[in-house]
Amino acid sequence: MLAVLEEQLAAAQRSLPAPVYEYYAAGAGEETTLAESARAWSAFRLRPRPLRDVSAVDLTTTLLGAPLEAPLLVAPMAFHRLAHEEAEAATARGTREAGGLMVVSTRASLAVEDIGAVAGPWWFQVYVMKDRDITARLVERAAASGAQALVLTGDTPYVGVKRKVGGVRIDMPEDHFLVNLRRHLGDRVDGAAAAAQDPSVDLGAVEWLRRLTGLPVVVKGVLRGDAAQECLDAGAAGVVVSNHGGRQLDRAVPSALALAEVVDAVAGRAPVLVDGGVRSGLDALVALALGASGVLVGRPVLWALAHGGADGVRAALAAVRDDLAHALALCGAASLAELDRSFVVPAAAPV
Ligand code: FNR
Repeated sequence: MLAVLEEQLAAAQRSLPAPVYEYYAAGAGEETTLAESARAWSAFRLRPRPLRDVSAVDLTTTLLGAPLEAPLLVAPMAFHRLAHEEAEAATARGTREAGGLMVVSTRASLAVEDIGAVAGPWWFQVYVMKDRDITARLVERAAASGAQALVLTGDTPYVGVKRKVGGVRIDMPEDHFLVNLRRHLGDRVDGAAAAAQDPSVDLGAVEWLRRLTGLPVVVKGVLRGDAAQECLDAGAAGVVVSNHGGRQLDRAVPSALALAEVVDAVAGRAPVLVDGGVRSGLDALVALALGASGVLVGRPVLWALAHGGADGVRAALAAVRDDLAHALALCGAASLAELDRSFVVPAAAPV
């Protein structure tokens, strides 16, 4: 993990109430996937090319039409207000200032209109809820607020059980909880039930969301090549290789080990993004060399937000970006386009 991110993590651990820290940090089950996901990136070794002109390194890229200074995204995560009073607005500002793209969660703790007003390029993450009308109204608001794509999370038919979180109550003011859904619930008493993810959601949701908004739909939570093909055949504009940061199915394969299979199955038809345990530019470099078009960073952004608000988020993403540029140069590549699988090889011995 980069030193800057380590410092922010330590500071957040000191300052956040213990239940909030545990909620953010936790993984599902025995946390096998959580533990393996970060380690898996360092199970690759790099094969640099010597004597290349790397006096200028270009990290710029375009994702579904959004020009970015670096291929870095903030993963969708619930309830930023637990980390900082400015909540997702601070994350959005920090991300914009670092030249990245923010994915805003359905479970955001600030209205999508208020996030859209300060964000750079952003996408909206969708949980399809039992009440389809609530989902429809919400994604329409996100689109009207400037979201440029939808990210349909496909790995959460039920919320993963996190031992450390079970039984611990997090104090959250009523008006922060599900702030984006609340206005669509009316006077229903079963609000939480209506807003629960619908476990019957299938690939048909891709086309439904696309028609509803006209926005491209990216499916998040893909760990197999055949599943990626199914998503594209169903109309998806991209996929995110992800095990939800180890918070859903414990013993799910680390993203680093699933990525190449997905990239091969997609075969250039659409961008393949990836998340889970990315903690440095070196991790991102491995992902990009394996064929990812961009990398999402999760928990480190929450630690940065807790520690330093928008400035903290900007500093965290800038640190990953600068580390990526440095690593790219030392690999003898002056741009992302020069990266390919020839730059990586599995480590000789298990790490
Ligand atoms: C998440 N994640 C997530 N994913 C999603 O699609 N919708 C969501 O609302 C959330 N909420 C959420 C809350 C918290 C506290 C965490 C830590 C994660 C998963 C997230 O988008 C991403 O897949 C992982 O966090 C990436 O792994 P790292 O970088 O945290 O290891």
